[in-house]
Amino acid sequence: MGDLVEKSKAKSALEAVLEERKKLPIYPYRDELLKAIDEHQVLIIVGETGSGKTTQIPQYLHEAGYTKRGLIACTQPRRVATMSVAARVSQEMGVKLGHEVGYSIRFEDCTSDKTIVKYMTDGMLMREFLGEPDLASYSVVMLDEAHERTLSTDILFGLVKDIAPFRPDLKLLISSATLDAEKFSDYFDPAPIFKIPGRRNPVEINFTKAPEADYLDAAIVTALQIHVTQPPGDILVFLTGQEEIETAEEILKHRTRGLGTKIAELMICPIYANLPSELQAKIFEPTPEGARKVVLATNIAETSLTIDRIKYVIDPGFCKMKSYNPRTGMESLLITPISKASAMQRACRSGRTGPGKCFRLYPAYNFQSDLDDNTIPEIQRTNLTNVVLMLKSLGINDLLHSDFMDPPPAEALLKALELLFALGALNKLGELTKVGRLMAEFPLDPMLSKMIVASENYTCSDEIISIAAMLSIGNSIFYCPKDKQVHADNARLNFHSGNVGDHALMKVYNSWKEINYSTQWCYENCIHIRSMKRATDIRDQLAGLLERVEIKLTSNSSDLDAIKKSITSGFFPQSARSQNGSYRTVKHPQTVHIHPSSGLAHVHPRWVIYHELVLTTKEYMRQATELSPDWLVEIAPHYYQLKDVEDSVSKKTLRGLEFYFLLH
Ligand code: CDP
Ligand code: MG
Repeated sequence: MGDLVEKSKAKSALEAVLEERKKLPIYPYRDELLKAIDEHQVLIIVGETGSGKTTQIPQYLHEAGYTKRGLIACTQPRRVATMSVAARVSQEMGVKLGHEVGYSIRFEDCTSDKTIVKYMTDGMLMREFLGEPDLASYSVVMLDEAHERTLSTDILFGLVKDIAPFRPDLKLLISSATLDAEKFSDYFDPAPIFKIPGRRNPVEINFTKAPEADYLDAAIVTALQIHVTQPPGDILVFLTGQEEIETAEEILKHRTRGLGTKIAELMICPIYANLPSELQAKIFEPTPEGARKVVLATNIAETSLTIDRIKYVIDPGFCKMKSYNPRTGMESLLITPISKASAMQRACRSGRTGPGKCFRLYPAYNFQSDLDDNTIPEIQRTNLTNVVLMLKSLGINDLLHSDFMDPPPAEALLKALELLFALGALNKLGELTKVGRLMAEFPLDPMLSKMIVASENYTCSDEIISIAAMLSIGNSIFYCPKDKQVHADNARLNFHSGNVGDHALMKVYNSWKEINYSTQWCYENCIHIRSMKRATDIRDQLAGLLERVEIKLTSNSSDLDAIKKSITSGFFPQSARSQNGSYRTVKHPQTVHIHPSSGLAHVHPRWVIYHELVLTTKEYMRQATELSPDWLVEIAPHYYQLKDVEDSVSKKTLRGLEFYFLLH
């Protein structure tokens, strides 16, 4: 009996979902769309955010029988969106996530033998080409959110265009939320464009009279003003990253506390890439009666995720954007003004279910004269080393003359080739070497893969993959509770003794393993257990990859020099020597610093190599390791000459002494 009740409940839930699906703007065009897909191999699909492209098209294709011939892949530029849409679609189809509908993101494969609809990051589909160059197991590839023009999506355009003639049965869909579809169409010689008419509501756009000195504060004040004075409707605030969002969340919580009972409750929902998935789901939950929701989001809410019932958008006009200097090879993530196209997308998010209002926290003249029309595609402002290694592994050699939608700067391509050559991944003719082939097997930055491949020579692959796994989880290992700051600092510094520098990450990992993955231990040391679990998971996968490329898992934990030499084998291009209290990078000299929170800050070794540079108030080296300068010449004789690493200071002193002795 209870079973029957459960079943009928599930059925009515499915029926309700079906009703919802029928209300989406794409639904009336279902049959027409399927017909167009049937008739053309490549189709460009344009429809406003929220029309149902991402969640519906793969389902329509499945219903029309495409999954009988192979998998349907739908790519997303962002991890969070990939997981979230896969979860939504599995729900709509009434199946368990990971069964018929699954997702694949780096280091996390949530698919099974049953999977027929696979949401995946564009980076993961790019990697699929390595194992299956003609994508034989797929019947449809949908490159979604194409307007975002991420590096991987741009590369995929070229790869799918190449295989199309050999796979006449493979359907290629390029879907986009903006109107630059002509460009996509032209690239595919030309492909027809299918437009899904939107149901647009009017959006009132407001500018500020003068520029804001502190956009974060202005955003918070505006959100509170809307909350107190405007009719019901949820608010979406665009901020640039996790830190800003957390600050805004805290301030908003604090300021709403004093508002009294007359003002409705304000539900604060953050969303950014590193937010645990349980919390991410909160943004889609309906706002309780009488309350108002404020979503604090990164660019992810611009087009990748549709949040219903947003009526007010606050747009400070900034986003975090990668920029790359091909001359120095340095990449940085900077807070940058958005483009006009982005500003339009943001504004539109307020008018999905009714008339909306957008508050731009900058003056109208700024919008007109200072913002670029479009965001520059990532391929033109990023480090290409990873992608060049991938393309080389796929046998694509003449990169300078490859058919890109927008070509990368030649300088950036050359820089990538140069670095891959220095790492030993390419030979003098630019051909992939054995080392390069091994490196390409790892879904990591080439310097990290080289470090792993080199660890074989130093018999410390066991330690090195722990370090690589810890580096891959980014900057979210330690946390610092406000009431226990000293305790947290001490806990962190505890792992830094012995001068391994920030690669003390290995120590953190080993201690966690020794203590049997204890939650209590994480708590006591102010370490995020979620990060540690993820590191363990990544490490297991790296161990699997080592086995695949036949590198033995060997441990050499007592030989710190061996471990540091392995690290040097990958990161030698990023060396710096101590100078006047800070550091100077050896190649392309620039002044950099050890972060004060680092264990090495107190030791101040003469020579270090670093994992990456992060620009905050200064250029800081993240994860620095002490090394002996002669290793640079020993490990990378083609890259460093003796004169690069000779300690100029001591040399001068020596010469001074000689002079002194001569005279006396
Ligand atoms: O891809 P496009 O922007 O055209 O739309 P979509 O992502 O397929 O969204 C269609 C509908 O599904 C919207 O009403 C979303 O709010 C909803 N959706 C959701 O509720 N939860 C998700 N994780 C993703 C979409
Ligand atoms: Mg979408």
